[in-house]
Amino acid sequence: MNFDNLLISQKDDVLIISINRPNNLNALNTKTLSELKNIFSNIKNNSKIKGVIITGVGNKAFVAGADIKEFINYSVNQAIDLSESGHNVFNLIENCSVPVIAAVNGYALGGGCELAMSCHIRIASSNAIFGQPEVNLGLIPGYAGTQRLTQLIGKGLAIELLTTGENINAEKAKSIGLVNNVVEQEELMKTCLKLLNKINAKSLLTITSIIKCVNHFYKKEVDGYQTEIEEFGKCFSSEDFKEGTNAFLEKRKPNFKGK
Ligand code: COA
Repeated sequence: MNFDNLLISQKDDVLIISINRPNNLNALNTKTLSELKNIFSNIKNNSKIKGVIITGVGNKAFVAGADIKEFINYSVNQAIDLSESGHNVFNLIENCSVPVIAAVNGYALGGGCELAMSCHIRIASSNAIFGQPEVNLGLIPGYAGTQRLTQLIGKGLAIELLTTGENINAEKAKSIGLVNNVVEQEELMKTCLKLLNKINAKSLLTITSIIKCVNHFYKKEVDGYQTEIEEFGKCFSSEDFKEGTNAFLEKRKPNFKGK
């Protein structure tokens, strides 16, 4: 697949997606959103991909927001469509069957912070800056920032960040649970790949189940507790469950096949 605004590479079974609009600090325009939608719609059917890393091209920005220049003259209906399409793409990422890590390598503002929050795990470089500055534009977040920020850092801090529009640095983001870890920029990709390798040594069936169960905690229309009961049961029909339990009893490392 060829994309105008995404650089795609693969390291073993990990797909690396780099948002590639460095002259605009990787701001998300509609083309980039649709390219992200395209790629995440196809990941499920690609057995060669066991993990995804999303990052930004360059060393200054992950993504500095939705593209302000593009939406400045939008009507109410165009704005609603834009917000819906952002929600759809970020839901696809959140519900991806393989783990998705945001390697936040600089500014993650507005839609950039929302993109990072739609990923399962966030690792930041020490220069990363997070924020939802939409309020400074007479706007509110439109790609589920009000929802996912509240999930990740709690109501009080979320309302403070959203209403002041103030940015926070990587260490502060870690201290409030917005990112899992902070590393030097040179170490960022290595750290994310190492983490995915650790996760991917397990059975992909269990990883997919865990992502689904955790996501269901936040969905009103489903009962995450019930999802866990069902997913737990499903494990007992897998070859990987037999392999994992036999390996334990035989005091050896399991060799999971994702079956
Ligand atoms: N949308 C469109 N273009 C953007 C952008 C965005 N969200 N963020 C940055 N850019 C563009 C700038 O307009 C500039 O383009 P130009 O060279 O054609 O003028 C280029 O990227 C470089 O940005 P600049 O502002 O000159 O860099 P800086 O180092 O001075 O400041 C930021 C960096 C991130 C603090 C600043 O760009 C910024 O505040 N961006 C907007 C953040 C925002 O409000 N995001 C939420 C959007 S809903």
